[in-house]
Amino acid sequence: MIQEQSSNGRPRRALITGITGQDGSFLAEFLLAKGYEVHGIVRRASTFNTERLDSIYADPHSKGVRLSLHYGDITDGAALRRTLGAAAPHEIYNLAAQSHVRVSFDQSEYTADAVATGTLRLLEAVRDYSAAGHSVRFYQAGSSEMFGAAAPPQNEHTPFYPRSPYAVSKVAAHWYCVNYREAYKLFICNGLLFNHESERRGETFVTRKITRALARIKLGLQEKLYLGNLNARRDWGYAGDYVEAMWMMLQQSEPDDFVIAMGESHSVREFLDAAGACLELDWKNHVHEDPRYFRPTEVDFLCGDATKARAKLGWAPKVTFPELVRRMVEHDLELARQEKTLTRAGHRVAQRGASQR
Ligand code: NAP
Ligand code: GDD
Repeated sequence: MIQEQSSNGRPRRALITGITGQDGSFLAEFLLAKGYEVHGIVRRASTFNTERLDSIYADPHSKGVRLSLHYGDITDGAALRRTLGAAAPHEIYNLAAQSHVRVSFDQSEYTADAVATGTLRLLEAVRDYSAAGHSVRFYQAGSSEMFGAAAPPQNEHTPFYPRSPYAVSKVAAHWYCVNYREAYKLFICNGLLFNHESERRGETFVTRKITRALARIKLGLQEKLYLGNLNARRDWGYAGDYVEAMWMMLQQSEPDDFVIAMGESHSVREFLDAAGACLELDWKNHVHEDPRYFRPTEVDFLCGDATKARAKLGWAPKVTFPELVRRMVEHDLELARQEKTLTRAGHRVAQRGASQR
């Protein structure tokens, strides 16, 4: 394990907004393994929302605990400033977002508040924190959705053409970051990350929705799967590989922006083929179209060119597309097996509402 230390010999400190999400949980694990002290902002919820952190969470009363969680919200500037003061981070990873593209059409104002203005709030706090003499580096979670309708392959020079309130908000956040880097000489990197998935992916994103449902169909727990546009193409990688790129960006001598992608694009239909093949299941017998999952404006074709990240950061993904699909399917098949065992034993297993999927 590499021990990352600040100049006084103490571990470096990182603050992650969105630590309870897919990427936040992978990044927290990654930084803890490197010896960092990790601080995360967690939203208050009426149910537990820290499930993805279960494997790294430790009772704060125990000795030597390097993970601290702070209540806060990206829409609450006072709480952000207080958390900055308490955590005193050397690195900040801004991952908090209403990250669902389809939902952003229903909750456009909130999405803008969290994704665009939320980033601005945090940057304002960082500007004052830096002016008070703290040296800090900032990672902004940008997205391939920002390229939207721009033709593939997309790289750092491709003009943005956002197609949803989510994507427009990410473009605004991107330019706030560029402006604060130039105006206040802050060390800020924008990651332009293409889709990345995992066993921890939220269940309303198409990959996880597919692997969850096909595994349940395979075991007779479900009959049908309702989906939207099967022709959309995405460049899908593994989340564990992508959080490493976030960290690598902040270790450079100069701040810069990077596309992170596999450079390989697949349609939703091809993802279904790959997942169905893992399960020896013909998905066509089970998948039905539901217009509610179509988007008013769609992003048809994303395929990233990560040449710059490979050359300058030395970043290279380890998990291939077939391996990604296999991992997700195996994980969800195990979940389905557990569900079946419980059901057979007479237990009631709660199902989430169909409208949320
Ligand atoms: P995710 O699983 O949806 O996680 C989002 C995180 O943001 C969660 O921790 C969520 O908290 C938190 N959050 C939401 N609203 C918040 C608010 N108002 N205040 C504070 N925290 C809030 O997303 P992800 O896949 O890990 O993505 C991480 C970041 O990368 C996001 O900014 C996303 O837009 C961006 N991104 C993702 C991808 C991808 O393919 N995964 C690609 C490009 C960019 P709760 O757990 O309480 O909901
Ligand atoms: N969610 C969902 N549900 N998507 C569906 C469905 C469905 O039932 N049926 C088809 N799709 C299509 C969508 O129309 C889209 O073209 C594609 O599957 C991928 O959708 P999502 O998995 O929801 O991801 P996304 O590409 O819209 O957004 C994700 O990746 C972005 C990076 O490009 C999110 O993680 C964003 O936060 C991220 O920025």
